[in-house]
Amino acid sequence: MGLSGTRSQATRPRPPSARGAPKAQAPSFKEVERFPQDAGPDAKGRSRWPQRAPFFSQRGGHRIFAAVYDPVTAPLERAVLGAHRSALLAGIGGLVLDVGAGTGANLAHFRSAGKVVAAEPDPWMRGRLATKAAGAPVPVEVRGDAAEALGFEDATFDAVVCTCVLCSVRDLPAALSEVRRVLRPGGRLAVLEHVRAADGFAKWQRTLQPIWSCFNAGCHPDRDIAGAITQAGFVFQSTETFDPMPSWVLARPWLKAVAVPAAKASA
Ligand SMILES: C[S@@+](CC[C@H](N)C(=O)[O-])C[C@H]1O[C@@H](n2cnc3c(N)ncnc32)[C@H](O)[C@@H]1O
Repeated sequence: MGLSGTRSQATRPRPPSARGAPKAQAPSFKEVERFPQDAGPDAKGRSRWPQRAPFFSQRGGHRIFAAVYDPVTAPLERAVLGAHRSALLAGIGGLVLDVGAGTGANLAHFRSAGKVVAAEPDPWMRGRLATKAAGAPVPVEVRGDAAEALGFEDATFDAVVCTCVLCSVRDLPAALSEVRRVLRPGGRLAVLEHVRAADGFAKWQRTLQPIWSCFNAGCHPDRDIAGAITQAGFVFQSTETFDPMPSWVLARPWLKAVAVPAAKASA
């Protein structure tokens, strides 16, 4: 399946270089600031990117968060998340959209995909993503689309992947509506997300969310992700919850699931 009708990438500025890339490729900060336009305006004409400016962020993205993301998450990836990513993604085939692909943590786990479109609006994350894309086991196209404004025609993708991103999108219902729109009938939504706790811990997640978000690039630990997916018109094919984090970490428990668009009710 091709990507005809998608927005052209040709005129976009280059992403910031990842660590180790030649210095000459690093854009000026002014150039980085132009990236928010990639995400497109929302219904009220406001830029969707950057989000509210949390502590430790810079206009146009989260430079420090992007720099520390891989080293900080590496122990968790090795111990737990990597295996869950593999189990979720190894069998995902066809044309796949990875929403909020970050630094590319999923890329090594795609084995059956014909092509992965990795969309990441944060230029600092995207620079690292582009580096990993070059060594991925399947073809990868890197783009800057925000989840709430995916620049693809309806029913473009065989599968959409959301990992550790639905906690961060600005408008969760709008993002899931876009995911459903670009997914072909019968296509699969694969998610690996931390979700709101089912017990009294949810109160702490809600109370401490503002400060947690500041230090975690806009992450909301108190979102009912499964409920939002159902609300958006999906039916779960499989779900698994697991709780790999220490009890004080707000980002727990986790959900690994596959959902498909609910069949439209016949008139
Ligand atoms: C915690 S990182 C996860 C990255 C990657 N998916 C992973 O599994 O490691 C969250 C990512 O969501 C991206 N993000 C935040 N808001 C977004 C939005 N509205 N649309 C798409 N991506 C978004 C951030 O830039 C960041 O790269």
